[in-house]
Amino acid sequence: MDVYEAVASRRAVRRFSGQPIPRQQLERVLSAAARSPSGANLQPWHIYALTGRPLAGLKKRTAERVAAGDTGDEREYQMYPPELKSPYRERRAAAAEQRYTALGIPREDRRSREAAVAANWDCFGAPAALFCYIDRDMGPAQWADLGMYLQTVMLLLRAEGMHSCPQMAWSVYCRSVAEAVLPPPGLILFCGVSIGFEDPTACQEEFIDRAPLAETVTFVDG
Ligand SMILES: Cc1cc2nc3c(=O)[nH]c(=O)nc-3n(C[C@H](O)[C@H](O)[C@H](O)COP(=O)(O)O)c2cc1C
Repeated sequence: MDVYEAVASRRAVRRFSGQPIPRQQLERVLSAAARSPSGANLQPWHIYALTGRPLAGLKKRTAERVAAGDTGDEREYQMYPPELKSPYRERRAAAAEQRYTALGIPREDRRSREAAVAANWDCFGAPAALFCYIDRDMGPAQWADLGMYLQTVMLLLRAEGMHSCPQMAWSVYCRSVAEAVLPPPGLILFCGVSIGFEDPTACQEEFIDRAPLAETVTFVDG
């Protein structure tokens, strides 16, 4: 698979088959992803790869918290600006609309929407997940490094025939994740990344649209 194909076929997959992922395959991806660039080569990512019982235990404990009406832990970082301005607000609304339409969930069906959100904490059925931490001392440039690293991982997963879904949703229950992975003090959980093979029986969600090139790229070439 060439890089264009990997980029074009990557999307946030939210229905995985339970097919386990051999440890070797995951190690191959994560070893290759270590080549990702980072300012001054800090490599500021701290990744915990969970499979099997530890992941099942975390899913179960989090599902119990959700079912008990627990709305989560004190947030360690702000996911989005409180007042999302244009054009970001419209893009977020359009993506949500596109996704729920593909799932056949009408706007007013709150229960189904909540269930779709809660599926985050089951990793959408994925048999593996990464939990991605960064040192509390790090600034925006290192958070960008972490983002580049994660995109590298997600593209390499495509080369292995696998899919992924990055999930800030896991930061909502960061204490449960910490109980499962026992990170050293001073790390913040940025996100989880669910990993696996797409459920072949899933009706494929559509590819989410992107803004036209001219909205996000300006060529300054005279
Ligand atoms: C940092 C990051 C966090 C995300 N968090 C979530 C999440 O918590 N739950 C979820 O279902 N999707 C999450 N997504 C997926 C985005 O919704 C998705 O990437 C976006 O809508 C574009 O769709 P596509 O990736 O399928 O092209 C996240 C994506 C990124 C990059």
